[in-house]
Order: sequence, then C-alpha cells, then structure tokens
Amino acid sequence: MDGKINVLISEKEIADRVAEMAKELSQEYAGKEVHLICILKGSVFFTCELAKRMEVPVTMDFLTVSSYGAGTESSGVITLKKDLDEPIEGKDVILVEDIIDTGNTLSWVYKNLKERNPASLKLITLLNKPDRRKVKLDVDMTGFVIPDKFVIGYGLDYDQKYRNLPYVGVIE
Ligand code: IMP
Ligand code: MG
Repeated sequence: MDGKINVLISEKEIADRVAEMAKELSQEYAGKEVHLICILKGSVFFTCELAKRMEVPVTMDFLTVSSYGAGTESSGVITLKKDLDEPIEGKDVILVEDIIDTGNTLSWVYKNLKERNPASLKLITLLNKPDRRKVKLDVDMTGFVIPDKFVIGYGLDYDQKYRNLPYVGVIE
C-alpha cells in the first residue's frame, strides 16, 4: 500500500466538526462531569481534540483491545489488552472511537463497560462506515459518515503507520 494519499476529510473540516461535537456534548452534559474513555490507539487524536473543546469538567481514561480476525477486518473475538485505570461506576461516560466498521469492537467494549455500572454511557465516533455494519449498534454521535474505503490518518493506521497525518486520507 505505497501510493499517493488523497485527502478525504481535511484538517480544517475535522477541526470544525470536532468543535461542533464538543459544543453539542457540552450542552447535553451541562452541570455534570464527563468521563471520556479513549480506545487506543486510533482514537487518541480525536479524544484529545474533543477534550480540549469541552466546556464541562472532563476526566479521561484509556483502554486497549485486540481483535483477532482475518486481514483488515475485525472479528467478534475481542480481548482486553489494557484495562482502564479507574472504575467507572456512577460516572457519566462517553466512549470515544475513531471509526466504526463492522461494529464488532465497539459492541464488545460497550457491553463490557455497561457491566461496570456507569451512571450513563454514550457512544461517539469520528468516522462511521454504516455499509459495513455486521452487528446492531446505537451510536449517539458520528463526526462523518464515510463510504466503504480503507482510510488512514488522524489516528487511523495502515500497518501502524500514517496515524500522524493531520487529515483523513485514502491511499490510491
Ligand atoms: P470494527 O470492529 O470492525 O468496527 O472495527 C473497528 C476498528 O477497526 C477501528 O477501531 C480501527 O482500529 C479499525 N478500522 C476499521 N476500519 C478502518 C479503516 O478504514 N482504517 C483504519 N482502521 C480501520
Ligand atoms: Mg480503533
């Protein structure tokens, strides 16, 4: 996959949309504290940018999951590689994902977190590929709906590379 990278969503478009999402969430959670949970590593850029724009008190925690599947597609077999540092019981939690593809990963993480009895649990994602969905998921907020293409940048990798691109792109 060494080709020219075409910009799908520019740095400015991402920044504007993330600010808009943070504003909407700040209104929804007015008077509360929000506990952001970032799924490493892909969601790290989105989570940080979102956190910086939130207007309510924010705490953050991180988890890593791995999914064993063929090729670039995730499977339903997910394991927790790095758990959260803090309990989430009684907290207003927002689970922040970079991209929802089949939905396998998020659906597993959602159930896992739900069992820990947060006061509330919302799912948000920067990118959403609804055409690829294999499991039903109620996503509370999506940054951008994108076509069924493999994207890189702004946290998303191909073979661990390209995460640092400031935009979301597609390799030709
Ligand atoms: P799902 O379990 O199929 O929804 O896959 C979600 C995970 O697969 C994301 O958190 C990403 O890590 C990865 N992924 C899915 N689509 C892409 C893509 O287009 N580019 C890079 N990573 C992707
Ligand atoms: Mg991910």
